[in-house]
Amino acid sequence: MAWTMSISLQAGGLILITILLIRLMKNHLAGGRRRLPPGPINLPVIGAFLSVGFRKRHLAFFNLAKRYGPVVYMKLGGADVVAVNSAETAMEVLKIHDAEFSGRPEHMAGEHIGFGYLGLDFCPYNAHFRKVRKVINSELLCQPKLNEMAYIRREEVLSLVATVAANCRGGAPFNVRSPIDDTVTNIIGRMMFGRLHPASRKLAEAVRDLKTVRRDAVEVEKQSNIADMFPQLARFDLQRIEANTMKIAKRFGLIYEIVVQEHKINPATQNDRKDFIDFLLGYNEGGDTFSENAIKAMLNDMLFGGIDTVAMSVEWPLAELLRHPQKLVRAQQEIDGIVGKDRPLEESDLDHLPYLHAIVKESLRLYPITYLTPPHVNEHEAELFGYRIPAHSNVYVNLYGVAHDPSYWQNADEFQPERFLGSDVNMSGTHFQLIPFSSGRRRCPAVLFSLLQVPYTLAVLLHAFDWTLPATMSPKDIVMEGRHGAANDKLQSLIICAKSRLPAQTYNL
Ligand SMILES: *[C@@H]1O[C@H](CO)[C@@H](O)[C@H](O)[C@H]1NC(C)=O
Repeated sequence: MAWTMSISLQAGGLILITILLIRLMKNHLAGGRRRLPPGPINLPVIGAFLSVGFRKRHLAFFNLAKRYGPVVYMKLGGADVVAVNSAETAMEVLKIHDAEFSGRPEHMAGEHIGFGYLGLDFCPYNAHFRKVRKVINSELLCQPKLNEMAYIRREEVLSLVATVAANCRGGAPFNVRSPIDDTVTNIIGRMMFGRLHPASRKLAEAVRDLKTVRRDAVEVEKQSNIADMFPQLARFDLQRIEANTMKIAKRFGLIYEIVVQEHKINPATQNDRKDFIDFLLGYNEGGDTFSENAIKAMLNDMLFGGIDTVAMSVEWPLAELLRHPQKLVRAQQEIDGIVGKDRPLEESDLDHLPYLHAIVKESLRLYPITYLTPPHVNEHEAELFGYRIPAHSNVYVNLYGVAHDPSYWQNADEFQPERFLGSDVNMSGTHFQLIPFSSGRRRCPAVLFSLLQVPYTLAVLLHAFDWTLPATMSPKDIVMEGRHGAANDKLQSLIICAKSRLPAQTYNL
């Protein structure tokens, strides 16, 4: 017995040494360079397509990580692709090696929707990107500017309450996403071009057109583009996705031209409250200005990029609360305890609503705006966790994987806002287990805005109304499936019933 064991130990040792030797030789032949991260088998041409597929790549990456560890390498669409799937590895990409991985790949969407790579999503990490970030951070989405614009949010959210009250007459089910979308459109629209007279026909037309183009844009974006998988096919544009994207970009461009033109024809006077377009048109730093395309790209970032993302972040927690009626009641009790029933809830009340914030955090953990960050590209060969990352890799941070990292989250699939009570984890991008807005140089520029607008809108809706499902539905019938495109909207809009729960004068209904 002992004798056979010693033989097999010796044999095992021999095999181990042989494997190590082969590895060493391989590394030596590769110029002594480090290894690529582990990953699935890459076939010629299609790479790891069979292991990853088109849809729900966050789940595919997450499952590969269970097998290969949190950093997974594969070939996709001819590109070197790396998926990082844990809080620790996300920090490695977004903080420790942030500067090296802050590029973006070339993509036709960046060309067309970004008006020549001038939009933040696809802009390379260059001087233009830094200039835009700086201007947005100091002139639009910083705390003092957001405070100045509080009246816009207040007016529009109160008007949302009136719209919901009108929509829900008689307790009939209605699509709650649609008035929330309109509210966010109005708010961001007013931040961008609010100086235009509200009764201006051009403005009304622009906002109306914006809504239809956004809807059409989402339809185009929904399609899986074969050219992303096989770049060799891009020039044939087999699904006409590029042609349609160009049309969409043109329609967006026309809308923005009209509002910019209106600003030029009627420049702001001293008594006017200037809006963001006024600022951009007046910008001149030693001869450096914003081109018309750069202005269009910025408007697009805010209007196309901002509206759905905020609206969906209100819709998801509302859906979860309808699935968990006790948590809904608990949130309302918290609000009533602070605000009472005789006055509207104000933004200043938000500081005193920890359970509400816990709901928002838990919802963004489960339903971030997108499950995979857009690809981070390294210009030069780099290193992550001791692995070699070839130059021009597409590195995806899997926010789904991060939010399900077992070293931080128990029962990760479950909606449990209570887990955040008494915790100091916030979403500013320093707690890497919760980075729905990502982190580092490529972080979402609108974190402060979102973290005001989302809890405020949700809190007011919970304060003003009781929410129930249509009689024919039970909580388990709510489809909690996301769209998994560039944005993670709820696949099926929430159709629910609302009933005023406060005296009519509280919200002036
Ligand atoms: C988030 O947490 C970090 C680190 O704990 C802290 O430095 C930062 O001020 C916090 N941000 C907010 C908005 O509370």
